[in-house]
Amino acid sequence: MPHPSHPNLTVLEHPLIQHKLTLLRDRATSTRDFKQLVSEIAMLMAYEATKDLPTESHEIDTPLEHMTGRMVSDKKLTLVPILRAGLGMVDGVSQLLPTARVGHIGVARDEQSLEPHHYYAKIPGDEREGSAALAGMAHEREFFILDPMLATGGSATAAATTLKTAGARRIRLLCIVAAPEGVRRMLEGHPDVRVFAAALDRGLNEHGYIVPGLGDAGDRLFGTR
Ligand code: PRP
Ligand code: URA
Repeated sequence: MPHPSHPNLTVLEHPLIQHKLTLLRDRATSTRDFKQLVSEIAMLMAYEATKDLPTESHEIDTPLEHMTGRMVSDKKLTLVPILRAGLGMVDGVSQLLPTARVGHIGVARDEQSLEPHHYYAKIPGDEREGSAALAGMAHEREFFILDPMLATGGSATAAATTLKTAGARRIRLLCIVAAPEGVRRMLEGHPDVRVFAAALDRGLNEHGYIVPGLGDAGDRLFGTR
């Protein structure tokens, strides 16, 4: 259900997601456990965020008789982690969507200006590249941007712009913790992109960190600080 104040946002209230999120936020959680929790939360979020994927009839034979089952329509699902921290969500989501292709977008936030610096993109089906036909055109694909943190929204907005430039038309964003500032920036820049979050926090502090948040997701995930 969309959030009452943010029509583009769905907060996933499942008890298991909330339980794991509390462990994730705890400063005492080790790098090893943090990595495991990000992956598990991402898997549970993917379950919720794919609820409305279209399905189609599929004929099979059980050991007893013929029947018509349902399967997810061939939408060419594509995961796009934002480097670095989004990488921590790929394994969890892939457990539910094992045939999904994986693109990568590199965006680093400038620590002073907080503006996004775009440094890398490799996207399956990129319609600006010759290989698009082999990979399935981007406009046919269902994209899931993965990033644990939606703070100012600069990184996610830049990632969605990059995907659309490559031809993408259907994009969802899965973030673990969102700030209202980032959700609003996504609504202004990309009103068609649905945002799924495990929590909507109070806001940003003077350094652009989400509060109460969980700190620097990339550093906690990779043990770099
Ligand atoms: C973090 C996070 C998001 C971004 C969110 O990445 O993983 O990508 O900040 O902030 P924003 O919404 O204000 O853009 P960071 O730029 O620190 O890079 P990293 O993942 O390499 O640590
Ligand atoms: N990036 C992070 O990793 N954490 C925040 O709180 C904000 C941006």
